[in-house]
Amino acid sequence: MSKNKNSISVQPTKDGSTTLYSSRFNQHYHNPNGAVAESRHVFFDTPRLPDAINQKKALNIFETGFGTGLNLLLLIQYLKQQKNTPEVMFYSVEAFPVEAAMARRFDFGDNPELNQSKELLHRIFETLKPGLNQIQISEQLTLKLYSGFFDELFDSETISGKFDFYFHDPFSPKANPELWMPEVFKKLASVAHQNAVLSTYCAATAARAAMAVAGWNLARAHGALGKREMTVASLNPEQLEPFKRINEKRLIERFDRGDFE
Ligand SMILES: C[S@@+](CC[C@H](N)C(=O)[O-])C[C@H]1O[C@@H](n2cnc3c(N)ncnc32)[C@H](O)[C@@H]1O
Repeated sequence: MSKNKNSISVQPTKDGSTTLYSSRFNQHYHNPNGAVAESRHVFFDTPRLPDAINQKKALNIFETGFGTGLNLLLLIQYLKQQKNTPEVMFYSVEAFPVEAAMARRFDFGDNPELNQSKELLHRIFETLKPGLNQIQISEQLTLKLYSGFFDELFDSETISGKFDFYFHDPFSPKANPELWMPEVFKKLASVAHQNAVLSTYCAATAARAAMAVAGWNLARAHGALGKREMTVASLNPEQLEPFKRINEKRLIERFDRGDFE
């Protein structure tokens, strides 16, 4: 990570929604071909989260990197669209929260409902305090947002419950390497249900090897918006049956040989 002062700016993407650009990481927060379309594909549709919403009584979701809060807003929308009303906890962590005023400048494109939720984001960022913040979004949905670093969150032992879905959404492994290490995926596994599904836009071999070393079974799925692949992982290989499996053993051997150092 660069030592530059963080400057964050709002940028357009090709589906009409905006994303952010971080000078500290020299990265966009989403695929420049479409922020909303990418998030839907990677975190909701590919891991079949809407089916789980329809079938379960309760669901716990963990996101690495709250960023713009887009995934929270999409979750609110998906919950409204399903008939079933499970109790949902959305747990997220963010080391560099944006200024509250910036949330009013986000544009979620041709999606009036998301655009109406900008005030909710503004309120969340405005009242955010260091450490764990609990916000009741609706009777059904609780947001637990840890303002601080991922490692601090796990050291703080504030996580309660086991997670069913992981939205692993840091910047790329090159820009944000500390969130793509085996230790990170071990920590995520330590609070996962056996059937939990982790999804990420990333298809880098080194990142997949780090997940495999941490005990996750792996599969490849079609990437969003012209990207060839993304990665889906679970502690239970049966959860990956709809996808094309990856040979974890070979990745672990390569990791142990030092191929990714
Ligand atoms: C790709 S962006 C997240 C996009 C976000 N999910 C969204 O939809 O806007 C990655 C986020 O991870 C945060 N981040 C990077 N390193 C972190 C760390 N060590 N702990 C917590 N958050 C971190 C960044 O500040 C950034 O907001």
